[in-house]
Amino acid sequence: VGAEGVSQYTQADFIRSFPKRKRSAHKGDHGRGLMIAGSDRMPGAAVLATRAALRSGTGLLSVNTTESVKAILATQAIEAMFDPFDCTEDATVGEALSKYDAVAFGPGVGRSQQVELTLIRLLEHTKGPLLLDADGLFYLKNHLERLRKRSEPTLLTPHPGEMARLVGKSVREVENDRFGLSRRFAKDYGVYLILKGPFTIITAPDGTQWVNTTGNPALATGGTGDVLTGIVLSFIMQHETLISALCNAVYLHGYAADVLVRSLKGMTGILASDVIHMLPQALGELV
Ligand code: APR
Ligand code: MG
Repeated sequence: VGAEGVSQYTQADFIRSFPKRKRSAHKGDHGRGLMIAGSDRMPGAAVLATRAALRSGTGLLSVNTTESVKAILATQAIEAMFDPFDCTEDATVGEALSKYDAVAFGPGVGRSQQVELTLIRLLEHTKGPLLLDADGLFYLKNHLERLRKRSEPTLLTPHPGEMARLVGKSVREVENDRFGLSRRFAKDYGVYLILKGPFTIITAPDGTQWVNTTGNPALATGGTGDVLTGIVLSFIMQHETLISALCNAVYLHGYAADVLVRSLKGMTGILASDVIHMLPQALGELV
């Protein structure tokens, strides 16, 4: 903190940029999003990301996932719809994606040839903002040139391990130069980057950086990253600018965890799904 071009993100920044709902609002005003998530081994990641996107105010949310995950989601996220198109089919994927204001890819998808091919198709064919997280980032280092070629915004939410893989360094090297590495990567590849961890750093493609101040070690548990992905997807469809969407998503995610810790007077045993449940109340307290 205090480095040149880095600002601390505050509640005042959140309040100033969080969109008010119009009296005349209809669901189309709050985004039509697509979440590509989950696999037979990680159905929960899809549930968490989907529910978090819904709890953050998404107008309409569709999910692209496996049949077995769909069966679970149909009961765990009943507001979601399904769009079972083949993400790896070059000829049809562009048309299928064009219905959405934003697309997120990665939570719980696992690692396979199909996941790498999906990544390639999404990089080539997604016309709006494309958010990549978790295993959606795993093969990205093989396709950095495609990333640079994209004309629409790409947003990445790596944790330090995922960032290390992207830049070919060790986690320790990432931790020792979080601001510098994020800035260089965001500028080199023209992406928005959220480097997660305590004091998450948000970097714009021009290298401008914000550091988040909310959140606590209650978040150090599996699934909270998937929750952030859902919030980010939702917010990029509802904010005036992508950078305020990202900063607000990270701020709210941490703030919800802070509200939980305050009310429970402790931070052990809080689950990612508890953070989702707290989102509307946290938003209510914030704005
Ligand atoms: N203080 C504040 N925030 C924290 C802290 C902390 N001490 N620890 C974690 N967080 C926040 C991070 O900033 C981030 O927003 O919790 C979230 C964790 O996200 P991820 O690291 O993506 O974790 P998640 O995806 O939920 O679960 C771990 O990552 O390494 C892979 O394959 C592994 O599936 C596993 C997954
Ligand atoms: Mg993660």
